[in-house]
Amino acid sequence: MDLKQHIRSIPDFPKPGVMFRDISTLLRDADAWQVALGRLARAVAPGRPDLLAGVESRGFLLAAPLASKLGCGFVMLRKPGKLPGRTVSLTYELEYGSDSLHIQEDAIEPGQRVVVVDDLLATGGTLAAAIKLLQKVGADVVASAVLIELGFLNGRSKLGIPVTALVRYDEE
Ligand code: PRP
Ligand code: MG
Repeated sequence: MDLKQHIRSIPDFPKPGVMFRDISTLLRDADAWQVALGRLARAVAPGRPDLLAGVESRGFLLAAPLASKLGCGFVMLRKPGKLPGRTVSLTYELEYGSDSLHIQEDAIEPGQRVVVVDDLLATGGTLAAAIKLLQKVGADVVASAVLIELGFLNGRSKLGIPVTALVRYDEE
């Protein structure tokens, strides 16, 4: 199955000149969603993760069912002000301004093998921050996996760990 055929492209969102790659059409197709999860599971399983970490919010859509499929635990990396109790955070730069990701400080046992999952790799800022944050709380981050990679932005070069992407776009 060509998963790219199930991803809808919407021009000028969220701002003029940007082509938004919309996974809504893939998620609502039961077969396409199963195929995507199956391919991600096959890519991620050899890393023998103890846990999958998902990046809020679209990353959760893939990471939680994937963890369930693999029989792994699931950990949330969340935007500010969402997680109760003691948290650890990491701030990262965006094109305009900055954002931060948070994790509960006891979410990971030291040395646990973690694969970090998001829907999309663009500039790599989000996944690079997710990886650093997981390492900060003691995770052994073995790999990352995404559904879509915008290859022309070369976000992969920021990560320093293997990345699996099921669908790649080489131009905007
Ligand atoms: C999008 C996407 C990735 C990130 C990729 O998330 O879901 O998480 O951007 O971009 P980058 O590689 O340039 O960092 P967004 O912050 O738009 O929010 P959402 O997942 O909550 O929709
Ligand atoms: Mg996101």
